[in-house]
Amino acid sequence: MDYNPALCAAIADRISTSPQGRISFAEYMDMVLYHPEHGYYSSNAVKLGFEGGDFFTSVHLGNDFGELLAEQFLQMWEILGQPESFYLVEMGAGQGLLASHILHYYQQQYPDFLAVLKYLIVEKSPSLKQEQQQRLQDFPVQWCNLEDIPANSITGCFFSNELVDALPVHQFILEAGELREVYVTTWGEGDKGDKGDKEDVAFFTPSSPRTPAPSFVEVTGELSTSRLAEYFDLVGIDFAQNGYADGYRSEINLAALDWLSIVADRLQRGYVLTIDYGYPANRYYNPRRSQGTLKCYYHHRHHDNPYVNIGQQDITAHVDFTALERWGDRCGLDKVGFTQQGLFLMVLGLGSRIAALSHQEQSISQLLRRRESLHELLNPLGLGGFGVLVQSKGLKEKELSQPLKGLTVPE
Ligand SMILES: C[S@@+](CC[C@H](N)C(=O)[O-])C[C@H]1O[C@@H](n2cnc3c(N)ncnc32)[C@H](O)[C@@H]1O
Repeated sequence: MDYNPALCAAIADRISTSPQGRISFAEYMDMVLYHPEHGYYSSNAVKLGFEGGDFFTSVHLGNDFGELLAEQFLQMWEILGQPESFYLVEMGAGQGLLASHILHYYQQQYPDFLAVLKYLIVEKSPSLKQEQQQRLQDFPVQWCNLEDIPANSITGCFFSNELVDALPVHQFILEAGELREVYVTTWGEGDKGDKGDKEDVAFFTPSSPRTPAPSFVEVTGELSTSRLAEYFDLVGIDFAQNGYADGYRSEINLAALDWLSIVADRLQRGYVLTIDYGYPANRYYNPRRSQGTLKCYYHHRHHDNPYVNIGQQDITAHVDFTALERWGDRCGLDKVGFTQQGLFLMVLGLGSRIAALSHQEQSISQLLRRRESLHELLNPLGLGGFGVLVQSKGLKEKELSQPLKGLTVPE
């Protein structure tokens, strides 16, 4: 069975008990991914990596990504004047691979830094948290909720790799020049012939024809919160201009703004480093990108139907980096810089690692595999094209004037 019937039932129940018999797409996505028992990330359905996974990330290509990031964190600590305790707060740590690569590297190369380092993980998925705890049992890592970190308590760096794309997004459609929100409702077997007053925009059934679960159908309606329209003031997009066609559809990630507000509040002095795929707002909301960026990942294949494989597939949306920058600004985070992952890793030493490959004693097949992985991290059409946004808070002028290595221009 390639969907989770208990999850479908829980969603249908939520819809039937909601006042208007519908839930926002953001709530649907939140349940599908993070329902406490049956969500993709909460149950054992989530599968990352090459072997039998739904998708892979930079951390599945070996230790290099983590080790080069580790170099950047070390420089941050130096810029801050080598404080006696320095926090790294990793948010959305997946299988704990990145943490293990970073911590092993410090153990081998910089034990003095490891002694002052406090590594916290914020992880929403109970099953992934369990996997992280097993993998990292030899390291002094602590797990906590972001909300439970006291305000203004962290000196160090909050960081994430592919967290923000996994946060639930609202969806909207332009109808006669108006922003209308996409909602999800049910269309049970019995009322398929009778649409009532539902103004449906799409109709999908869960993938198995034998499903006893209700089908989910999209309807549009007024915006559920004024924050959705305000978002476009924030990022400087005006749908009355630039020739947006009727039916233009895209996403808004309010959860990312909420997340960044909390991070900014908890950070006293240091950095926020966000790595993800995405665009600045003017590219994100380009009139030609008329169907948005929502993607579903299932067994390394991607498609754009979030109403199949329910609870068994990942759903993501690209990140609007303009929103993170401008919202960060409002929350007291200064933009330090924005670059692409490929450039970021090159200046941190990926180029030297590639050059050193031929001097390493490895079999030809190992050598080729590693070379391919390193090149994949750089590929501008893939992982190398990801955005790296660095923001800061509470830095003195002298500290601000010291460029972060990863943001310098490669020679
Ligand atoms: C796409 S995976 C990326 C995992 C890992 N960073 C990597 O690069 O392989 C997204 C991760 O974020 C976690 N996550 C999603 N929403 C979260 C939230 N609000 N707080 C903490 N973790 C969250 C998921 O459970 C998962 O571990």
